[in-house]
Amino acid sequence: MPLTPMGDDADRIGINPVFVGEDQRGSVPRNQLADGGLDPEVAYQLVHDELMLDGNARLNLATFVTTWMEPAAQRLMAECADKNMIDKDEYPQTAALEARCVNILARLWHAPGADPDDAEAATGCSTTGSSEAAMLAGLALLRRWRARRRAAGLPTDRPNIVMGVNVQVCWEKFARYWDVEPRLVPMDGDTFHLTAEGAVARCDENTIGVVAILGSTFDGSYEPVAEICAALDDLHDRSGVDVPVHVDGASGAMIAPFVDPDLAWDFQLPRVASINTSGHKYGLVYPGVGWIVWRDAASLPEELVFKVNYLGGEMPTFALNFSRPGAQVVAQYYQFVRLGFDGYRRVQQYARDVAVRLASRIAELGPFTLLTDGSELPVFAFRIADGVDDLTVFDVSAALRQRGWQVPAYTFPADREDLAVLRIVVRNGFGHDLADLLVEDLVRVLPSAVLSTTPADEGFHH
Ligand SMILES: Cc1ncc(COP(=O)(O)O)c(C=O)c1O
Repeated sequence: MPLTPMGDDADRIGINPVFVGEDQRGSVPRNQLADGGLDPEVAYQLVHDELMLDGNARLNLATFVTTWMEPAAQRLMAECADKNMIDKDEYPQTAALEARCVNILARLWHAPGADPDDAEAATGCSTTGSSEAAMLAGLALLRRWRARRRAAGLPTDRPNIVMGVNVQVCWEKFARYWDVEPRLVPMDGDTFHLTAEGAVARCDENTIGVVAILGSTFDGSYEPVAEICAALDDLHDRSGVDVPVHVDGASGAMIAPFVDPDLAWDFQLPRVASINTSGHKYGLVYPGVGWIVWRDAASLPEELVFKVNYLGGEMPTFALNFSRPGAQVVAQYYQFVRLGFDGYRRVQQYARDVAVRLASRIAELGPFTLLTDGSELPVFAFRIADGVDDLTVFDVSAALRQRGWQVPAYTFPADREDLAVLRIVVRNGFGHDLADLLVEDLVRVLPSAVLSTTPADEGFHH
């Protein structure tokens, strides 16, 4: 059978002739099942080769998600790839590690009553990521509001949720999926996230909760959780309207406890009902794990917990999905054991140091103005400086892409659609040296007329 030359037929994928004998097929259909299969090594090479075109994850400064784990963690994950998180009866130790992680997080976030000796003490679970965690948190808020209203004989047909317009899309999804009116507080001037006044002004008796973000996806800034809670306390005193707060700590709930120990943002604030984080962001695990923890069992309505007995044993479950990989949960526990509190502190402090120094170097170049400086999340956003013409953030992003760097450029939401920024997310595995290489490339792609330093001046030693 003649070999089909690569690229001759858009519907088929060619196979390297090295792998193909006289009597074998030289290509496979791209979009439908072939009649027969391939040897494992050939199939591996075919898929592997195509994936060469994916970007280099370590140069991706757009994502918050972990792109590097050490070899021992990778080995453990490979060993657990066949474990289904939901089979708690079959994999009781994986289930035990999940419960321990929930307890570790509950204590880290100062949940009242989280007892280190009692694995049942904390209320929470693993999820696929912060998006699923947001759905569960939102549902708990909705159900609790409805129960309170019903008990008082009040209508329950017009729930709303208050949050900044800068929320991640998962919260808009929550509102749409469950028919809750999203009350989005717009950006205002140089205020790019939710403020206490903005939140309280939109709350009423139909508000199921306020979402405060630690920190914002748009620019890495922390929302003032304590101020928002205090303003809601005041609203309660004045009007009787009692609105709980959910903290979306997708990134920050794994940063602040370690490097901002004096910041009040967690369950130490009595108004905080629940907190989520992405284990796969600053929890330092590869994609596929998030966490949701409630203040106490009373904050999670009983009707959201389902009991299933068909895997053996009677297991409570309150995640949206049923089957889910166990490897990521095991890897989360590995990171907790491997790093301990001090290890996390050092990793997060280093990420912050890299972000702050990189931000200041970029500010010194001349054509950029920082919106944030990496001192909250190790994330910062910057725009083209006033008076710099003929340069857009989109040009800069595209030019950096030629060297493999992915630095996203985007416009802000209402009421600052006029503002276009670049954003850099510093993660574990992106150190000072890579940051210096990025600055060198940035200098190279900028027209020399806009630079305040010449490329020769910009050597930086650390
Ligand atoms: C503040 C915030 N919330 C939620 C999410 C969604 O998280 P995940 O990707 O884990 O579903 C993100 C992701 O960037 C985020 O930044």
